[in-house]
Amino acid sequence: MTDLSQMSRDELVRRRDELSAQYDAYRARGLKLDMTRGKPGSDQLDLAKDMAVCLGPSDIKSADGTDIRNYGGLDGLPETKSLFGEILGAKPEQVIVSGNSSLQLMHDTVVRALLHGVPGGEGPWGKESIKFLCPSPGYDRHFAICEHHGIDMIVVALNDDGPDMDAIERLVENDASIKGIWCVPKYSNPTGTTYSEAAVARLAKMKTAAPDFRIFWDNAYVVHDLYDTTDALANILEACESAGNANRPYLFGSTSKVSWAGAGIAAMATSLANAKDLKRHLGIQTIGPDKVNQLRHMRFFKDLAGVKAHMAKHATLIRPKFEAVIEAFDSKLSGKGIASFTRPRGGYFVSLDTLDGCASEVVKRADAAGVKLTAAGATFPYGRDPRDRNIRIAPTLPPLEQVKLAMEVVCCCVELVSIERRLSV
Ligand SMILES: Cc1ncc(COP(=O)(O)O)c(C=O)c1O
Repeated sequence: MTDLSQMSRDELVRRRDELSAQYDAYRARGLKLDMTRGKPGSDQLDLAKDMAVCLGPSDIKSADGTDIRNYGGLDGLPETKSLFGEILGAKPEQVIVSGNSSLQLMHDTVVRALLHGVPGGEGPWGKESIKFLCPSPGYDRHFAICEHHGIDMIVVALNDDGPDMDAIERLVENDASIKGIWCVPKYSNPTGTTYSEAAVARLAKMKTAAPDFRIFWDNAYVVHDLYDTTDALANILEACESAGNANRPYLFGSTSKVSWAGAGIAAMATSLANAKDLKRHLGIQTIGPDKVNQLRHMRFFKDLAGVKAHMAKHATLIRPKFEAVIEAFDSKLSGKGIASFTRPRGGYFVSLDTLDGCASEVVKRADAAGVKLTAAGATFPYGRDPRDRNIRIAPTLPPLEQVKLAMEVVCCCVELVSIERRLSV
């Protein structure tokens, strides 16, 4: 492969013409491919199809004798609390299992803090203007929660070993209006990054000007390995406790991409003081969660080993799709000095960085050729990628052949737009 910067103007023009012809040929095919949605494919959902029938008509009692059909059990069945405790790295009494969406738990946790404050704080967060740190590229829906509720967002870089801790420590030490940080600590959305032990320790220990600073630890991909090994992630609850900041972290997780997205179960884990406070609010909001769904999950998965065995089946289905993306990028983009990309070992996304200023145009061109990509900028607060270079690729939903074809088109667009940029200066 020749690095674009080594090519003469004539060579660049020739290559541009070749790529334009390829691009026109793709356009003429009237493709309709969608690489935007971080959703499980229906083959993945089928893996849990027996969950629909795994509760018998008289299977109505949880481990502690609770009738799952009735009100109550605000923070979840004992067995689901234990399972999520193991998944998230918490004691069962620190866990609240509620609803079907961890995003909803995150949203509600933020809103409760805005309205009522949190333990150790000085009243509702919403009484003054506050800020959250947003390691980026990151998850657009985290940023949407902040934007929707008027929380200012500060971008910090997400490096290969976690967020830029030097920047974070400096910011939180000096600004009491910074109340929180969004973290996807394992197989992060969209880069696949897992935070190093050092990053976790620094987050736990750092001095914050706000006494009620919180880490929103969204461990959405905790059991979502693509390979036989798993990335090690230090326990944030324990790290915060030993640093004397036990109330700092709120952990979140769900089975959305384990069982069924939208019909799974969601949970959070935190210090006992935080959990008590959350339950005080939760008890106003609901008389109890859907315990039938919780028991159905327990009957199907049984325990953590059951979850892990199930996730290995997911990996078998989706790993070839991830590998197709990486193979396309390796063979068509590597060595040309026009892009860099991640090689995730878990999670749901591949992150592609184009040359600065090219991502929006690549997304536009791909769209015109029938390949939908997540909007450029979506992985940054306010939808603004300051370098206009990041594109999130979601390979799980389309069938493998479509992933391969979509990536051919994307690679063609990346190279074409990069050459056009070069020729225009
Ligand atoms: C990082 C992250 N957190 C949370 C969610 C949504 O989780 P849930 O379905 O539990 O609301 C997603 C979905 O893509 C995600 O990528």
